[in-house]
Amino acid sequence: MLEKVENLMLDIVASLGCSRSVELFKKVPKGKRLRAKLILKIAGENDKALQLAAIVELIHAASLLHDDVIDDADTRRGQCSINAEYGDKTAIMLGDILYSKGFSELTFLPQEVAYNISHAVALLSIGELLDVELSQSFNDNLEAYFDMIYKKTASLIEASAKSAALLAGKNSDIYALYGKNLGLAFQIIDDVLDITQSSETLGKPSLNDFKEGKTTLPYLYMYNKLSSNDKEILLSLFQKTLNENERNWIKEKMNESNAINLSIEYAKRLGLEALDVIKNEEDVGLAKIIKEMIERNF
Ligand code: FPP
Ligand code: MG
Repeated sequence: MLEKVENLMLDIVASLGCSRSVELFKKVPKGKRLRAKLILKIAGENDKALQLAAIVELIHAASLLHDDVIDDADTRRGQCSINAEYGDKTAIMLGDILYSKGFSELTFLPQEVAYNISHAVALLSIGELLDVELSQSFNDNLEAYFDMIYKKTASLIEASAKSAALLAGKNSDIYALYGKNLGLAFQIIDDVLDITQSSETLGKPSLNDFKEGKTTLPYLYMYNKLSSNDKEILLSLFQKTLNENERNWIKEKMNESNAINLSIEYAKRLGLEALDVIKNEEDVGLAKIIKEMIERNF
């Protein structure tokens, strides 16, 4: 079924009649398609659900094209990023083409669905702005981190689940809450993997968040447990390209403070909360989505 989503995404881009857009779109690394899977599980495998899944994945792909320009990233999902291969201007314009075409396709879906998704994209952009601004100096504010990851990542997953429920005539509020918790847990696991996995497994540089100025949940937990001397050492490494000793020091302190386990536990709790809100709903495989998302290694 995901193949149908892939084909639909290509058809939507091709319908613009610009062969260069199609050529470039084919070079965009394909992702896990979490949002599409979620939509198809909740709304069932019908035309409207496939359309929504393709639109959301086009918008998500656009956001990553822009994110890679913002982060000056060389790789995405183990491949050369579009900005690295074709330059920032091309990556930005391809992102613009994908999300604006996604928006025009949204007008064929019910108005509430179109509103949910387009509003989430505004939140997503605000989340990215907050992420960039929080990264300018060492952030030790947990609330600011959660607000940022809700907007940057969870908002579109929440809107996808809610919109899929609307299409299927299900209770959209509880699916929205499921999606929000899934989205928050997803970003926390992403932030953990940045520290625990190799660059090869991730398909992008590992231990890169701290270099980018991002004090993600594991760093926040760790920081709170460090001695004042170690806090100073950590602050001296902020936004630096780390050498082997410094990378090992961070990993050792992560272990000593149990910050990785605490972060995974938090993500698992969110996963359980997500499942709790839909416990009276028909079982369509949403527990499996949570399990796979938490147990993944990239
Ligand atoms: C990846 O997060 C980034 C996002 C999930 C959101 C990016 C949003 C924008 C750039 C706003 C513009 C939106 C559109 C539709 C053009 P990350 O940097 O934590 O993950 P990464 O390590 O995989 O890059
Ligand atoms: Mg990024």
